Amino acid sequence: MKFFIDTANLDQIKEAQALGVLDGVTTNPSLMAKEGISGKNNVLKHYVDICTIVTGDVSAEVIATDYDGMIREGEELSELHEQIVVKLPMTKEGIKACKYFSDRGIKTNVTLVFSAGQALLAAKAGATYVSPFIGRLDDVSTDGLMLIEEIREIYDNYGYDTQILAASVRHTMHIVNCAKIGADVMTGPLSAILGLLKHPLTDIGLAQFLADHAKANQ
Ligand code: G3P
Repeated sequence: MKFFIDTANLDQIKEAQALGVLDGVTTNPSLMAKEGISGKNNVLKHYVDICTIVTGDVSAEVIATDYDGMIREGEELSELHEQIVVKLPMTKEGIKACKYFSDRGIKTNVTLVFSAGQALLAAKAGATYVSPFIGRLDDVSTDGLMLIEEIREIYDNYGYDTQILAASVRHTMHIVNCAKIGADVMTGPLSAILGLLKHPLTDIGLAQFLADHAKANQ
């Protein structure tokens, strides 16, 4: 499973990259705003900055909601850097734009996906990635992981190439469960990734090894 980090924070992206397990980055307008990035030129520069830190795909979301606007913005974003993936909302216009970009070999990520039917449509439109939001489904008493299972089954039935990018991952067990189900990618916060490191028996075992070594080498 590929690991993407879901942030526009450069320090966190650098920390995840330094760990050596990072495959890409996802951003959205809320995450950019959270970092205080505003104004078209600053936003575009920030995407390029992210691309220079990581070697994998970097999702950059269009703001336009109409087809022509999405095409215009998506083309500009994709020309910024070869690692840019055009992120499009799961709307009728977004699906049309997804087909436009996939026909031209430009990578896409269809976002704000909350049902298997939406994911099927994104695959039909040739999306590179589909982003089901599991945390937001959990927030409304719906099993987000079950949606990943449904999409996995549908994509496997027909051999769709679209990669399931489990998004709105909130914690470490989301990552483990996405891996068990067979999501192709997960995108989550640094805290959820670092949570994978933790086990008290690892800490206790290491302390014992070091203590025994120190005793034997007094
Ligand atoms: O990748 C989508 C993600 O940014 C949404 O996460 O935690 O706002 O639901 P969240």
